[in-house]
Amino acid sequence: MAINRPWWWKLLSPHRKTLLLGLGATVLCSVAASWVPFWSGRAVKALELGQWSLSRQSLVWMLAFTLTAGIGRYFMRYTLIGLSRSIERLQREELYTFFLARPFAFFERQQVGDLMSRIGDDVSTVRMATGPGVMSFLATVAMLPVTLGLMFHTSPRLTVAVLVPFLLLAGAFYYIGRWSHILQQRLQVVTSRINTFSHEAISGERVIQAFGLEADRVREFHALSEQQARLGIRQTVLWGAYGPVAGIMGGISILALVGYGGHLVLQKALHIGDLTAFSGYLVAMGWPIMSLGWAANLFQRGKAGQERIDAILGSREAPLPPPEAEELPADPLGLRVRGLVSRFDSGRGLGPVDLDLPPGGSLAIVGGIGSGKTLLLQLLAGLRRPEAGEILVDGMPLDEGRLRWHWAGLGWVPQEAFLFSSTLRENLAFGRPGAPDEELWEVARVVCLDDLIQRLPQGLDTVVGERGVVLSGGERQRTALARALLRRPRLLLLDDALSAVDAETESRILENLRDFLGRATLVLATHRVFVAELCEQVLVLEEGRVLQRGPAQDLARAPGLFARLRTLQSLERSLERG
Ligand SMILES: Nc1ncnc2c1ncn2[C@@H]1O[C@H](COP(=O)(O)OP(=O)(O)OP(=O)(O)O)[C@@H](O)[C@H]1O
Ligand SMILES: [Mg+2]
Repeated sequence: MAINRPWWWKLLSPHRKTLLLGLGATVLCSVAASWVPFWSGRAVKALELGQWSLSRQSLVWMLAFTLTAGIGRYFMRYTLIGLSRSIERLQREELYTFFLARPFAFFERQQVGDLMSRIGDDVSTVRMATGPGVMSFLATVAMLPVTLGLMFHTSPRLTVAVLVPFLLLAGAFYYIGRWSHILQQRLQVVTSRINTFSHEAISGERVIQAFGLEADRVREFHALSEQQARLGIRQTVLWGAYGPVAGIMGGISILALVGYGGHLVLQKALHIGDLTAFSGYLVAMGWPIMSLGWAANLFQRGKAGQERIDAILGSREAPLPPPEAEELPADPLGLRVRGLVSRFDSGRGLGPVDLDLPPGGSLAIVGGIGSGKTLLLQLLAGLRRPEAGEILVDGMPLDEGRLRWHWAGLGWVPQEAFLFSSTLRENLAFGRPGAPDEELWEVARVVCLDDLIQRLPQGLDTVVGERGVVLSGGERQRTALARALLRRPRLLLLDDALSAVDAETESRILENLRDFLGRATLVLATHRVFVAELCEQVLVLEEGRVLQRGPAQDLARAPGLFARLRTLQSLERSLERG
């Protein structure tokens, strides 16, 4: 039978030892703190009766318990809060490792902002529950029986009288906490919308200005910002209530203590010393009882956070096999594709496609926008799993077990060049950290980037900014290509990788590429017929289907899409040249 464990069980149970130590320190601190008022009451009582030495003795005991409570509190915080920090670290690392091991399809389904909030906010709410939440709960549970026992032992009637306002206080705190939680959630949604909105507006600022839409965007932003301020003010009002509510309830308790307790003293049913002890108990119990409501809220929020984390960790996509050092053959790779189909829910996509590419061969995929070029390259790269058909790499099926091996020999340059916000050197040497500068300059020459780097004041040490913003589109693309070349791939896949480079430079780079790579296998997707002509074979795609295939010279002569594109593009070129 499956046991239904609470959500925090799996987080805390591996740390039983630390938890036990923390529990020991908590019990020590709480029990010792409970006895402090008892001894102060004793000291006053002894004074009342004129027993000076007994009073001094009681004060020594009080001091001893105060010290013990202090030491216990230190170790309680050290172990329990420290434990929650370790849990937070482990959870964050687990999520990060999890994200990195997910396949392409996972990131297509998820939003970056949402994943960031799981690794940030959700992990933090869980930490608040497993740290301060657990600690204050344990402290209260350990302290209440002792304090209540001592209070009841002294005067059951006075105990009931002073406790009622305290319980009301815990209830009030619980409700304030719940409202504030609801407000907090709404505030988070608005804040995340503001973040997304401003992020988009700042990145797309040139488009907004060109369309003259600044006023509209500012109005939209004001509306969001007003909403955020309104919620923020309500949250502040609510938080502001904590202090006064605690003050009022504490005051009522003191009133009950002095009013009713004084009455008992006058009736000789109670000593002044007992009254002193009671005021000590009230102070000692104040925070633990108030914190019960607070801890209950922390647990609710922690549970919600853990559910969101579990939902991500339970994603349906199988993880990628772990990276391994692969032994690769030196010669280029051969590809064979049979009946390859991959379609999206919309029905758009690719297939069926067959193709054969011998080791060292080159293939150009030509087609209009949305014809399936990127999709085909992603399938060949092993980034996507096909719906049907198979891809044979060196005669072996490209399955999960072969994926890392395939990637070790792959040079992949996506349509949107992605650079990391570090230096040119680090970006170029990304796939081969520590590669010598001569090799970096060599690949820079192949992609015609050496002139530019020489002109930059910091050369290879130039910081390229977030996603490479300080470079032009064409420069970014060429950096991404050079990065792939440095690995000396067995198979180079270029997805329209030079679309932002002028046609002349593109042809030059492709010629350099041939010399540099020697006999590597090359597959490139392009809109440009003249680039396709540099490859041995051409595959023409339309709406995901193979329309034409063969050497470029043959296709140029045969009637069809390729020849039509060729005529159009030669016209464009001659017009450009004037
Ligand atoms: N993640 C996706 N979800 C749903 N449909 C998609 C997705 N990616 C691509 N498509 C669709 O699949 C078709 C093929 O897309 P693909 O990106 O392969 O085109 P492409 O030939 O590379 O176009 P382009 O020349 O513009 O880069 C398109 O119709 C596109 O709308
Ligand atoms: Mg594409």
